[in-house]
Amino acid sequence: MNSLQKNNKKPWPTKKAMEQIYDLQLWGNNNSKFYSGEGSHKLEIVTPYINAVSSFLKSFKTPITVLDLGCGDFNIGKDLVQHTKKYIAVDIVEKLIHFNKENFKAANLEFACLDIAKDTLPKADVVIVRQVLQHLSNEEISNILQKLFHYKYIILTEHLPNGKFIPNKDIISGQGIRLKKQSGLDILKPPFNCKIQTEKELLCLDLENNKGVIKTVLYKVF
Ligand SMILES: C[S@@+](CC[C@H](N)C(=O)[O-])C[C@H]1O[C@@H](n2cnc3c(N)ncnc32)[C@H](O)[C@@H]1O
Repeated sequence: MNSLQKNNKKPWPTKKAMEQIYDLQLWGNNNSKFYSGEGSHKLEIVTPYINAVSSFLKSFKTPITVLDLGCGDFNIGKDLVQHTKKYIAVDIVEKLIHFNKENFKAANLEFACLDIAKDTLPKADVVIVRQVLQHLSNEEISNILQKLFHYKYIILTEHLPNGKFIPNKDIISGQGIRLKKQSGLDILKPPFNCKIQTEKELLCLDLENNKGVIKTVLYKVF
């Protein structure tokens, strides 16, 4: 029995947990029906991220296909679509995907409601996973990572503690992240031990009041 199970509480399925977060506005709200949190809206966080990822996307002579896993309220994705051949945005929350379909339209944009830990994922050149894995258990992350290694590039963004930390402490999937345990995700370390060709830090934003960093890394897989 691991420490997560010792009080005998069975975690909620991730789909239910994520639905509840949006229904109860546990990541806050800005008077819109769906709100994915400050990390998806604060200009000082969002603008440098969009600039860095746009530069990467524009570096290709021919536009490429992007798969955005856990696209949330799409405040970020909406500014990347224009730099792609095709943009497929996926989330586990059905009502959110329905809302996004109504509110964000482009000829090269598609939305799909999928559980990225369980379902088969569409093909693409690059996969974007921004502040999603930080909310998930190690078991779900393992399932997702197995699928990610079929994509040539992964752009992974995670909220991490300042300075050194013990990586990959397990959590129950939901609203919280590993930061509360002074931990954060490192896919190259156990239990994940991912093998990649190269890694490049695209961005590392220091949050005020020692609230950690939001780091974006580009992995070239093959
Ligand atoms: C904190 S939000 C980040 C949203 C967006 N990536 C951004 O940076 O603005 C995390 C999102 O991941 C989605 N998510 C969590 N687990 C998922 C899963 N297993 N499959 C698909 N989406 C998932 C949640 O519903 C939520 O919208």
